[in-house]
Amino acid sequence: MSRTFFVTTALPYANGSFHVGHIMEYIQADIWVRFMRSQGHTVHFVGADDAHGAPIMLKAEKEGIAPEQLVARYAAERPQYLNGFHVQFDHWHSTHSPENVALSHDIYRRLRDAGLIDSRVIEQFYDPVKAMFLPDRYIQGTCPRCKSPEQNGDSCEVCGAVYAPTDLIEPKSTLTGATPVLRQSEHLFFKLSDPRCVAFLQEWTAGRNAQGTPHLQPEVFAKTREWLGEDGKLADWDISRDSPYFGIEIPDAPGKYFYVWLDAPVGYLASLSAYCAKQGLDMDTLLDPAGGTEQVHFIGKDIVYFHALFWPAMLHFSGRKTPDQINVHGFITVSGAKMSKSRGTGISPLRYLDTGMNPEWLRYYIAAKLNARVEDVDFNPEDFMARVNSDLVGKYVNIASRAAKFIHQHFEGELAVPDADFLAEVQAVAASVATAYETREYGRAIRETMALADRINQVFDTAQPWVMARSAAVDAVQREALHRVCSQAIAGFKALSVLLAPVLPALSARVARELFGLDRDFTWADATVASTRIATYQHLMQRVDAKQLDALFDTIPAAADAPPAAVAAPAAAPVAAAVPAVETVSDGALPGGEAIAPTITIDDFAKVDLRIARIVACDYVEGAKKLLRLTLDAGEGRHRNVFSGIRSAYEPAQLVGKLTVLVANLAPRTMKFGVSEGMVLAASHADEKANPGIYVLEPFPGAQPGMRVR
Ligand code: 2FM
Ligand code: ZN
Repeated sequence: MSRTFFVTTALPYANGSFHVGHIMEYIQADIWVRFMRSQGHTVHFVGADDAHGAPIMLKAEKEGIAPEQLVARYAAERPQYLNGFHVQFDHWHSTHSPENVALSHDIYRRLRDAGLIDSRVIEQFYDPVKAMFLPDRYIQGTCPRCKSPEQNGDSCEVCGAVYAPTDLIEPKSTLTGATPVLRQSEHLFFKLSDPRCVAFLQEWTAGRNAQGTPHLQPEVFAKTREWLGEDGKLADWDISRDSPYFGIEIPDAPGKYFYVWLDAPVGYLASLSAYCAKQGLDMDTLLDPAGGTEQVHFIGKDIVYFHALFWPAMLHFSGRKTPDQINVHGFITVSGAKMSKSRGTGISPLRYLDTGMNPEWLRYYIAAKLNARVEDVDFNPEDFMARVNSDLVGKYVNIASRAAKFIHQHFEGELAVPDADFLAEVQAVAASVATAYETREYGRAIRETMALADRINQVFDTAQPWVMARSAAVDAVQREALHRVCSQAIAGFKALSVLLAPVLPALSARVARELFGLDRDFTWADATVASTRIATYQHLMQRVDAKQLDALFDTIPAAADAPPAAVAAPAAAPVAAAVPAVETVSDGALPGGEAIAPTITIDDFAKVDLRIARIVACDYVEGAKKLLRLTLDAGEGRHRNVFSGIRSAYEPAQLVGKLTVLVANLAPRTMKFGVSEGMVLAASHADEKANPGIYVLEPFPGAQPGMRVR
């Protein structure tokens, strides 16, 4: 039976470019959408920019532009990422749109009419200089528990204490440095503690959709139980923010705006509404609560609270259809290192495309590692190269390139009919792979598809068609066997292309058209439909080259590789040309072989946060001749991973246990081997060849990890 779906991915904040975490989510959803369409279902797949909130307003202000301009700038760069990775939304919209204003107003009014909106006066920190109420993230102060300075408004990074911003000692606004004052303001709340909400959320979170699939994955459901607590009650949700705020003004409440998380998910509906208008569809019919459309949201594990609790309640109590499935995925890590959502360290999607890497390699790799659980996915460069080269090129593409040659040389492109047994085997695999895709067990779908590729290759290799081909011209039996073996391999290749089509849409479209002469893309049924002839084989896919991975990651540039010091060897000052080629370290004119850098102020220096760190572990780095991996304790209650180009000067054992100096606030750098979270200081001569030697800095006795070096 044909089904209709309304599918979304989380709406990205419009104050940053996409990072690989976004791309992973889009790929996961896009594969699902393509698969569902291949089954004959109708899917409306929409996205949008999440345009509102204080960070966007403040970033625009800093740049001296209107928030609308900032949002437009990021919106303009979305297509190159989406098209680049073959992610095909039907429509991309913005929460800063008339549709979203109308829908947010409507939902709010209905909640209010249902008696679920409350107004209360609250006390909040206010920045008197900036003349605005301060969100917690813009307040810092000294931790009330461990007395560490410069801690955030909600929790202490040093001792882990969680508190209210008003508990901070000497709180400061990070926007102006002013001491915030407490001020009263009237806020609007969504009464989630209302018994109706409690009853609804208890039921919905444990519920199933019309297909019998639970709304939430088991681990997500368990989390909601924790949040709902023993009495099943949530605290009321503060949904208003005071002016100045970039958002949607609340009806009948001048100067008050919806908190960004109120209108963000409404953006799903706004985007669908704009899409419906474009397509001549009726959204009310499409989303009729009594109708059959299945509403499916793909999101990351960090925003479950909003989607599994607030969003269904907003929809239900405004008389709308609730989601049928919330599909939560984990984060993507790179070589085991966590990426920050805002910093977005890791693989740069644009760099990936710019280096000429095939987007379908990434789609394949991500698919191979995804399952239906909330687990992180690790991108490991070596594993990526091995999998793509061995599976896609070595197993899949290889079948066509080998078999098609014989079909052309000996049979002018004509194919023999494959065995019924073989087609039955393909049918069974296709059914199982289909279930795997539908249930988002992509890793299993890929494993089963590759197992079929293995069997096809095995049959081909065992038959040794290259031996048959030698006598095919004179021996009819050999000729017939050659035809059968190669035709079956091609039928297998076609089936594999269909099974991989949701993951490799561009490649499978080429195969359908170029090799099998179709004037359309494959549908699922094509897996078991044997073609009668093929066109000549055209090269289908390149192998991953290790050099591309080197280019993708921020490997240490050659010049900076050897000097371990905090800064890469600076370009020689102009005077350097006038001095003899070989210098000594004690050369007075050019100490250490280089001129003293231009003068900086004490404020410039203060920007560099140098800390004492203990080297708790030190290892060689496989594949890196110049690096050592240092595990450092800088008194932060966690360890840092730092790569340093000091391997030529030290054995790991010489360094373990020593104290040194760390540049603690250097932006993390993603390298092929993992993320480097800072840099250790060391001395070396500018002309390292003539004056070899690298000397890691060690403080006088008494210094302790975490102490600042001034
Ligand atoms: O966490 C985020 O990036 C949010 N912008 C996601 C919003 S999803 C939806 F609610 F719009
Ligand atoms: Zn603390």
